[in-house]
Amino acid sequence: MLELAPSILSADFSHLGQDIAQAEAGGAKWLHFDVMDGQYVPNISFGFPVLSSVRKCCDLFLDVHLMVEHPEKFIELAAANGADMITVHAESCVHLDRIIHAIHEQGCKAGVALNPATPISVLEYVLPMLDMVLIMTVNPGYGGQSYIPYCTEKLQTLRQRIDKLDKEILIEVDGGVSEKTIPTIVKAGANVLVAGSAVFKDDITQNTEKLFVKMKESCL
Ligand code: DX5
Ligand code: ZN
Repeated sequence: MLELAPSILSADFSHLGQDIAQAEAGGAKWLHFDVMDGQYVPNISFGFPVLSSVRKCCDLFLDVHLMVEHPEKFIELAAANGADMITVHAESCVHLDRIIHAIHEQGCKAGVALNPATPISVLEYVLPMLDMVLIMTVNPGYGGQSYIPYCTEKLQTLRQRIDKLDKEILIEVDGGVSEKTIPTIVKAGANVLVAGSAVFKDDITQNTEKLFVKMKESCL
């Protein structure tokens, strides 16, 4: 499986519905939704009222990335407002095992995100419980940053670990995804590519289509 998840962090919120519709017209099936609290990351984005509105305006798979302290407080809200996948940061969870169960109990898919400096080994015991691992390839908090090259090796190592398990666990890459970095990311074994600034500028439909073409070419 190989999907693109346009990140609405880079959209124009004065016409968010139109921007999403244009990404959908370009072939997007997922939508990435970055919740930032100004505590876990040095920025505030948007929250669950926006998620609820987006849920009503599209049928896309809603991929909610919680960049917040105490993410356990927000699982029920995220699920009730339309999340299909909820991803929490390993670094912000005191009881990671408990929160993964809580996400599944809400009927959502569960993902765990790792910042660039966090080793994969923190997932050793919980990996088989997960539906997705999100590898941050920039430091979280802002769109438009450059892909951190050392993350490629981390992706390759994670791909090898997952392939040894008897379960499909998706690898999502978030940060600095562009036509330039897609070949490296896809060849390293990623399944879901988050793209904010590469999608939401100028012609959104055309940008989305171009990124899909590059992703398919990179598999050959
Ligand atoms: C960064 C966010 C990303 C962001 C990516 O903290 O988690 O989802 O939207 O933006 P680009 O694709 O511009 O690097
Ligand atoms: Zn994100």
